[in-house]
Amino acid sequence: MNIDMDISVDIAGIVMKNPIMVASGTFGFGREYSDFYDINKLGALVTKGLTLLPKHGNPPPRTYETPAGMLNSVGLENPGVEKFIEKEWPHLSKLTTPIIANIDGDTVEDYQKIAKWLSTLENLAALEVNISCPNVEKGGLAFGQDPESAFQVIKAVREATNLPIIAKLSPNVTHIQTIAKATESAGADAISLINTLLGMAIDIHNHQPIFRRTFAGLSGPAVKPVALRMVWEVYEAVSVPIIAMGGITTWQDAAEFILAGASAVAVGTANFINPRAPIEIIEGLKTYLCLKEQNLQQLIGSAHGGRHLTY
Ligand SMILES: Cc1cc2nc3c(=O)[nH]c(=O)nc-3n(C[C@H](O)[C@H](O)[C@H](O)COP(=O)(O)O)c2cc1C
Repeated sequence: MNIDMDISVDIAGIVMKNPIMVASGTFGFGREYSDFYDINKLGALVTKGLTLLPKHGNPPPRTYETPAGMLNSVGLENPGVEKFIEKEWPHLSKLTTPIIANIDGDTVEDYQKIAKWLSTLENLAALEVNISCPNVEKGGLAFGQDPESAFQVIKAVREATNLPIIAKLSPNVTHIQTIAKATESAGADAISLINTLLGMAIDIHNHQPIFRRTFAGLSGPAVKPVALRMVWEVYEAVSVPIIAMGGITTWQDAAEFILAGASAVAVGTANFINPRAPIEIIEGLKTYLCLKEQNLQQLIGSAHGGRHLTY
């Protein structure tokens, strides 16, 4: 069996050797995972969310295990865009895998400024614009819950950069298609979904919510069916490519999302359980395609009954 088959994919000019990426916030800036495998084997690496100024994040506890998943309230702890460029970019820029910077802002102007800073970096592959973080006071999720605000953020970033823009959507909305269409019409080159689902946990001994901000973001296998449904819906609404995430743990999960319409997938919470999960998914997907004697393009969205994207 030839498992060296070509599973490369081009998403809005981001050329990836395979469709398996790692999701923002679950892979830091890549350093910790280099001990487990050659991270150049990944289709792409998405950085932790970057803000204009450094963020210390939320007080502990920041994570809490749930059945088939986890809640997090990290609060976008990051060094800020300037320190990122100084301290993290030198090692990231040496990698051969495309690097995508995930960005977040309190205001539309913040997003624009970060985009301008990052556009000065040679070899940065794209910006993933997070309009869906549930764990911060300002901005974040609010931008991703209203189509007009989502449009304004993506339009502002579009004006600030020539880099490909990926709009990262929140599942905490009633009509995901409306938000997806708003970001597409504002100039997003691709759409990624889902960010975490709002959830909470309560300490039954002290009668207090576990998290200081009461609500936190649910991720992991528990959210997969919701993510899959949303990818399916967005595929029917837009013509830009989709990057799917939400509970992807095995190659079978990845295959389901591709059949639902994703051109690439990202592994998030699974990295914490099995650091080698993305590599195992790449290998499993290759074998699956080989056995089916199909290429990746034939598979994308094929569960919709033959509808194919025209991009
Ligand atoms: C600890 C943690 C931190 C995260 N940080 C970010 C972030 O900085 N920016 C972002 O867009 N998404 C962030 N996410 C969301 C993930 O990128 C992903 O969209 C979500 O967890 C669903 O995928 P999963 O179920 O495979 O983890 C974070 C998720 C977790 C668990």
